[in-house]
Amino acid sequence: MSVPDIALNSGTTIPQLGFGVFKVDPAQTERIVSDALEVGYRHIDTAKAYDNEPGVGAAIAASAIPREELFVTTKLFNSDQGGQSALDAFDLSLAKLGLDYVDLYLIHWPCPARGLFVESWRSLEQIFESGRARAIGVSNFLPHHLQTLLDETTVVPAVNQIELHPYFQQREASEFGRSHGVVTEAWSPLGQGTLVDEAGVQAIADAYGKSLAQVILRWHIQNGNVVIPKSNRRERMAENFDVFDFELTQAEIGIIDALDRGGRLGSDPDVVS
Ligand SMILES: NC(=O)c1ccc[n+]([C@@H]2O[C@H](COP(=O)([O-])OP(=O)(O)OC[C@H]3O[C@@H](n4cnc5c(N)ncnc54)[C@H](OP(=O)(O)O)[C@@H]3O)[C@@H](O)[C@H]2O)c1
Repeated sequence: MSVPDIALNSGTTIPQLGFGVFKVDPAQTERIVSDALEVGYRHIDTAKAYDNEPGVGAAIAASAIPREELFVTTKLFNSDQGGQSALDAFDLSLAKLGLDYVDLYLIHWPCPARGLFVESWRSLEQIFESGRARAIGVSNFLPHHLQTLLDETTVVPAVNQIELHPYFQQREASEFGRSHGVVTEAWSPLGQGTLVDEAGVQAIADAYGKSLAQVILRWHIQNGNVVIPKSNRRERMAENFDVFDFELTQAEIGIIDALDRGGRLGSDPDVVS
């Protein structure tokens, strides 16, 4: 079964399932991303802040996969926000990846206290116009941050990558995105492993002969989210990739929907600076 593509407002598409490399040791990144590519992932999510762009680039260079079959995302770090500084940071990320374009470039956090995300976005618009990012988007933007961009800039973000898992479902943010053509991408889609004791989800998994992680990823897929689970282990990479041969019923989706408890694992986007 192949990974579905989701249309972006940039005119390009994004594979709905990708591989995230947050907290992947820079010294291990080439091997781990090479494993992920061998398993079948074609969408890799990195960031300047993860310090492992060179390993991602090395794995891509070592693979025989044509560039146009890959989807690579990286992100503008908070301290690089601004006009020229964002342009310079993008050039550095491209150089570290060893690529001449990325498929998606994101502002990592809005950092409202810096007051620079609108200026940064204008730099991303320039990068988009130059063709060196096939799509541009944001991460950790709350609806009011997105509304500011919609009011003050030209290009609508293609993607908003936000913390989203069964314990923290962010329905308001997803709905706001949907109503403006912004695709929601779920970070920490597995809740960083915190859902292990959910008996209701485990019962669904047992019924399909699947794992709890596979059922959670399937819930995301059926909700239309892009997902980027991370694993250092090849067998889990394969497990997380194998979610396209079963379908949850509306009742099963409802059981997972009911787990929402506002359980944010990461930082509040309004306070990160
Ligand atoms: N934009 C942002 O601010 C932001 C923030 C955080 C994350 N992200 C992105 O989202 C990606 C995913 O998020 P995440 O890494 O925080 O969390 P995650 O994918 O929800 O969970 C990863 C954790 O779950 C474990 N795991 C993976 N597959 C498993 C499976 N099948 N069964 C049991 N455990 C499993 C992994 O351990 P092992 O490695 O030992 O398998 C790891 O500890 C990141 O890599 C990054 O690309 C973005």
